[in-house]
Amino acid sequence: MAPESNPASNFAEYDYSNFYYGAGDDPMNLLGPFSDWYREALPNGYYLYSEPLQGAPETRVHVRNRKTGRIHELINMASYNYLGISYRPEVKEAAIKAVEKYGLGASGSPILSGTFDIHEEFNAELARFKGKEAVVVFPTGYSANVGFISGLMRAGDSIILDQYSHASVVDGAILAKSNTVFFRHNNPLDLERKLGKTKGKKLVVVEGVYSMDGDICTLPELLEVVKRHGARVLIDEAHSTFLFGQNGRGVAEHFGLDEEVDFHLGTFSKSLGGQGGFVAGSRKLIDYINAFGRSRFFSCNLSPVLVAGLLAGLRIVQKEPELRQKLWSNVAFLRRRFAEEGIDIGKSNSQVMPVMVNNDARVFAVAEKIQDRGLFLNPVTYPAVPKHKSRLRISVSAAHTEADLETAVRVIASVLREEGVCQ
Ligand SMILES: Cc1ncc(COP(=O)(O)O)c(C=O)c1O
Repeated sequence: MAPESNPASNFAEYDYSNFYYGAGDDPMNLLGPFSDWYREALPNGYYLYSEPLQGAPETRVHVRNRKTGRIHELINMASYNYLGISYRPEVKEAAIKAVEKYGLGASGSPILSGTFDIHEEFNAELARFKGKEAVVVFPTGYSANVGFISGLMRAGDSIILDQYSHASVVDGAILAKSNTVFFRHNNPLDLERKLGKTKGKKLVVVEGVYSMDGDICTLPELLEVVKRHGARVLIDEAHSTFLFGQNGRGVAEHFGLDEEVDFHLGTFSKSLGGQGGFVAGSRKLIDYINAFGRSRFFSCNLSPVLVAGLLAGLRIVQKEPELRQKLWSNVAFLRRRFAEEGIDIGKSNSQVMPVMVNNDARVFAVAEKIQDRGLFLNPVTYPAVPKHKSRLRISVSAAHTEADLETAVRVIASVLREEGVCQ
């Protein structure tokens, strides 16, 4: 509900959740209170969102500061381009060649006029990479979750979600109209309790890496419970495909449980630095989702230009496993340095690291100071994370040098000490 007092004058006590419902019968009534608050919040720190980058998401980026209008060179600690693939010369060259051959877009849904030879080539190579019979590709990772979950589950069925599930998983469950229950994050005992009470077909959804805390899913323990209850499991490997496991297939491979997991989902927007999502599995599964995944069926196919770049990126991942090794050595370096400086990165055990600030009002000032000293990273607050668990979110890349990471640690440590967030 919109607050009684004036949100514009004490902006820091408000967040998006205050403006979700509004009084009156006119949907336009929602706009005014939000606009008043947002206009005040922007110059006081919210401008740190959607700042425009002036070039590729490399480890150094030029970013236009919304407050001052000036462009600054910053060390990029905010990109999902975990393997530095989006701007590789082979990837750019493939996309340039493809735009000359195909033009800009697919100009149609995949089932009508929007499938090109390059889509078939990419799908076959991705299926081989994942060790599955086939894949179905969606326009985004978001629409992969929405389309897959609602394509498979029905009213009367049960979907059991980790409490920290991504919005796209939650939205897929809403669209499926199944009974949806949440279990405590990564907690097999609570999953056991929840599964014991559910009816109908049962789908449990977990994520390989949880993107706000950077912790990986407790797959072996959860899977044991899932199997005992005769449920099926979907793993969303948005932040783990192409990174984890001996072949880079993801967290399921990392645990040696690739075959035990029923449904494997991933995105191209992160480690491949492109866009799109997919599900990999048996031919039978993919044929069914091709027919019933509405966010694919009724939406334009991925641009062939993008697919050409993705194919080049996929080949790099397979040819250069040393990229993954470099990423993990960078992660180990940063973890060690944060520990030495007494900086709290919560439960992270991946390339995503939350620097905990735990102060919803102060996190923007902390982030602004860090940016002024040369780092590009994002503050995260409620509702993306629980109240009073605000943080700065860091993404490590294989492309970072140890010198980049050392600079990042020093800047973060000095600001956190000045602001009294750590000793
Ligand atoms: C776990 C998870 N699933 C799905 C998505 C959506 O992926 P995309 O950005 O490719 O649409 C994200 C995005 O951050 C995510 O973290």
